[in-house]
Amino acid sequence: MINKKIEKALNEQVEKEGYSSSLYLAMASWAETKGMAGVAQWLYVQSDEERMHMLKFIKYINERGGKAIVPAFKQPGKENASVKKMFEDVLKHEQFISSSINEIVALCTTEKDYTTLNWIQWFVNEQVEEETNATQILDKLNLLGEKNLYMFDRDIMSLRGKAAAGTADAT
Ligand code: FEO
Repeated sequence: MINKKIEKALNEQVEKEGYSSSLYLAMASWAETKGMAGVAQWLYVQSDEERMHMLKFIKYINERGGKAIVPAFKQPGKENASVKKMFEDVLKHEQFISSSINEIVALCTTEKDYTTLNWIQWFVNEQVEEETNATQILDKLNLLGEKNLYMFDRDIMSLRGKAAAGTADAT
């Protein structure tokens, strides 16, 4: 059974993962309206993955005798200054999520909750992948230059297939 401190931290993570899903959904929709089908597809899949992450937390909290709370999510921004700025925001957001996961790891240690510590390792590994994906996309964007968005859009469409396959066990 999880204690109240762990339950609170995990519920806060439910909110963060749910917000991540909304954030990437808003970005996907924005990219779609700009005619960037590849970027939109990558972000729609990413949004689905974040919902899976949220579900993982909800189910774990309930299974361990806690009570998961589904909160209201803050509305993400509607506009992005540029594709590059948007992916910089994705990377920044993933770094924020990584530090949040690390805080839970630290809390599990001080609370001596080794079951949750073990369970959350999946997310520790996942965050390495999430940050790497965002960094690689930014590298591509820098290489191609923002004037070559058509090429970038094509390229990211093929990337998504690989990334989605790599995280197919996200449920
Ligand atoms: Fe669920 Fe992208 O962190």
